[in-house]
Amino acid sequence: MMKFHIIPKPQSFTVSGGEAVFALDDMLNFQVGIGCKNAAKDLSDFISKVFGFDPMGSGSETVSFELDRTGKDESYRLSVSEHQIQIKAHDEAGAFYAVQTLKQLLLQSKGTLPALQIDDYPVCSYRGFMLDVSRYFFTVEAVKLFLDAMALHKLNVFHWHLTDDQGWRVEIYSKLLLAQIGSQRAYTNFGKTPHGGFYSKADIEEIVRYAHERYIKVIPEIDSPGHVVSAIAAYPSLSCFNRQLDVSTHSGIKNDVLCVGKESTFSFMFDVLDEICEMFPDKIVHLGGDEVPTKRWKLCPDCQRRMEELGLTDEKGLHAYYINRLASHLTEKGVQPVMWYDESSDNRYNSDIIFQYWGQKDVPDGLTSEANGERKVISSRSDAFYLDLPYGKINLKQTYENDAFVDGFEKSDNLLGAEACLWTEYVPSMAKAGYCTFPRLGAFSENVWTEKKNRDFKEFLAGLKAYERLLDTLPFDYASKKQAMPWPLRKYGYLLWFERRKLHWQGLHNLIDDRKVEKEAENRI
Ligand code: ACM
Ligand code: ZN
Repeated sequence: MMKFHIIPKPQSFTVSGGEAVFALDDMLNFQVGIGCKNAAKDLSDFISKVFGFDPMGSGSETVSFELDRTGKDESYRLSVSEHQIQIKAHDEAGAFYAVQTLKQLLLQSKGTLPALQIDDYPVCSYRGFMLDVSRYFFTVEAVKLFLDAMALHKLNVFHWHLTDDQGWRVEIYSKLLLAQIGSQRAYTNFGKTPHGGFYSKADIEEIVRYAHERYIKVIPEIDSPGHVVSAIAAYPSLSCFNRQLDVSTHSGIKNDVLCVGKESTFSFMFDVLDEICEMFPDKIVHLGGDEVPTKRWKLCPDCQRRMEELGLTDEKGLHAYYINRLASHLTEKGVQPVMWYDESSDNRYNSDIIFQYWGQKDVPDGLTSEANGERKVISSRSDAFYLDLPYGKINLKQTYENDAFVDGFEKSDNLLGAEACLWTEYVPSMAKAGYCTFPRLGAFSENVWTEKKNRDFKEFLAGLKAYERLLDTLPFDYASKKQAMPWPLRKYGYLLWFERRKLHWQGLHNLIDDRKVEKEAENRI
């Protein structure tokens, strides 16, 4: 009997009898119920691309789609019987996910299927993938390919990291210099050539539409008050001491951040967020908030005055004040704010901000349900779900086995799910992006989709060859099993990589800049 390997593994899968009862042919008959058009089109496109014919006939083999509103959100039942594939789903997304499963069945069986039944639903409602397009710009076509890959993996949230020190990638009409100046850097870590690019509003609209056709929500991230050198390069008055900076050429944590003392910083950011909210209809916006050194704030008279007015005794409080004001601006508009959170973060943030945890290992005590009440959390634990890290640091097994559901959250509705992040400081091409992302995204998808009791890493590995055939339907590279698996010597490769990264981080840039600012501050006082 044929053994199928579906990734992510369905919750229940039974094959009854080994004989083929269904054979795909070019007369395949589609019966498409209300709400199933996208699912049917996706199947038709796939058959056309992979099997080489447009199945729009009226033959005896039938595939039917129907929403029955029973079962869990995003669930589906896929049954194959004599000359018939039947898809019954709770909702549109469920029907679409049935098609993703069917694609793998058809690929592995070359179009002939035995009688079978699959009942399936996801364990996490939030199954995210983040792409950093700031460190390297990815074209609209490239972003669409990532969305195609997300759909194949039944992922449903695209987190778009649109701004960072190395590039501002979204057009804002009321602040045109952000994209015009902030999207261009003089040279890159690799190649030492100029690099740039940004998305117009039309580009954003196209991508959001493309995502929605695949039941993927789009969360834009406008990262602040740190990681903003590209914005300061365009508008120096955003910084403490009005610093004239170039868009960063190197990665690393920059000491130049937004001046939180000046009221003009807030009106600037509110304008930006207002336009962002208009562009992104899913009503979730990521505010960033990660890695914010307080060196400038400590020296800046405006920031210090603000702290005094607020009665704050530490700069972390200033960070919370800043984020909370932006978050309230969003929630007043009915938009859900999200921010990065790690072990070193403060606990003074509005309780309705979703924390995206990016620390290592399990969620820290400060984040457990008891400590946080009803706070919602997404796990992007960086010892499992950071796709840019070398396989020597995060191998396939870790991505598969390190749970999104961690201490304190097993029985909690407050952990919405998890997100795999592709940071791109060291990902200058689609080839490298593919190598980093796959097969880890397969492991991740099973981590967030499949019940823990149904997951088995050995079985996942047994399906890797079939998974590679699925990936071959998209123009992505991927790491081989050998490259992705734990191997003791690989960690030395990782050490080399880490050293190179440290050199960039602690490059003279930061030191020279710090001296300059300290001098300026002294002269003012
Ligand atoms: C992060 O990796 N800085 C969120
Ligand atoms: Zn300041």
